[in-house]
Amino acid sequence: MKENKKPILISGMKPTGKMHLGNFFGSLKQVIDLEDKYDNTYFIADFHALTGVKNSKEFRDNTWDLALDCLGAGLDPKKICIYKQSDVPEVTELTWFFSCLINVSYLMRAHAYKDAQAKGEEVNCGTFSYPILMAADILIHKSRFVPVGEDQRQHIEYARDVAEKFNSTYKKIFPIPEGVILESVGTVPGTDGRKMSKSYNNTIPLFATHEEIKKAVMKIPTDSKGVEDYKDPKECFVFKIHSLVTPEGELSILRKRYLEGGIGYKESKELLVESLDSYLKPFREKRSYYEKNPEEVKKILKKGADKTRKRTQETMAEVRKSMGISFLK
Ligand code: ADP
Ligand code: TRP
Repeated sequence: MKENKKPILISGMKPTGKMHLGNFFGSLKQVIDLEDKYDNTYFIADFHALTGVKNSKEFRDNTWDLALDCLGAGLDPKKICIYKQSDVPEVTELTWFFSCLINVSYLMRAHAYKDAQAKGEEVNCGTFSYPILMAADILIHKSRFVPVGEDQRQHIEYARDVAEKFNSTYKKIFPIPEGVILESVGTVPGTDGRKMSKSYNNTIPLFATHEEIKKAVMKIPTDSKGVEDYKDPKECFVFKIHSLVTPEGELSILRKRYLEGGIGYKESKELLVESLDSYLKPFREKRSYYEKNPEEVKKILKKGADKTRKRTQETMAEVRKSMGISFLK
């Protein structure tokens, strides 16, 4: 029997460092914004992080911090189910089943794998089959929607292909998931103008202090136009971040000043620091509440995993049956 008739939406994030503005706007915020429309789940993708992080303390701390970050950033556990991937082991079983359907040559086309190879990095088997684990994360929920940032587009394509391959080989069990990639967010620029990313050391962390925010914002590169010059807001990294955190009224005044002249980049950056401070203040307060209440956080994660396992066990029973694996009972 169906527990909930709303379409299922799922997304997750790897615990590989401090959550930043790109992660929040590209992924988590969308799940929060859609909490009333769909049956939403967000998970901490700790198995995915294992491809890189090998230090157990760092691994544990990152996982815990990401749980605090999600709750601090406004994920309401009464509305959105949150769990840690490693608490739902069914996903690894499904990953194996999918691995036996997907060809190596197809996985070799994955951007993440190709980039690592191009850089001459050693690629472990986990990194190579990352798209299969991600497909399993998504499909085991029978998700319809997957909000992610632009850089995950190819991974969603893989999940769709895996679903089609399974459905045509065995039985039509999996809906074909759709990525939800917001044009209005696009790729959030980092403090060096490239994509904001933990791996580029160019982030504005979501829980940064005022001083840290100021230091980061002042680093954002701009062109050499003077105060009175026309500036194209679309070409400006500072304005791009304004468009995410500055209230609409102030944003349209700012846009006008960019177009008509009368604002320098220094002032625009100072205004951005103010906007970020007020946008992030409630986040800091909420995170510090959860930090002081670790037992509550543990309970939330446990409850999320229990709820998820009911669903994943149901899916796996269907999957095993369709594959001819479970025929004794
Ligand atoms: P990072 O590049 O910092 O390691 P992740 O790969 O952990 O980020 O991404 C977590 C989620 O955040 C993904 O859905 C990803 O698409 C999204 N994301 C990451 N960076 C950005 C960005 N700069 N702009 C928009 N979305 C982003
Ligand atoms: N690959 C995603 C990232 O790097 C994290 C992730 C793992 C994910 N499994 C997922 C996102 C399933 C959405 C759905 O950010």
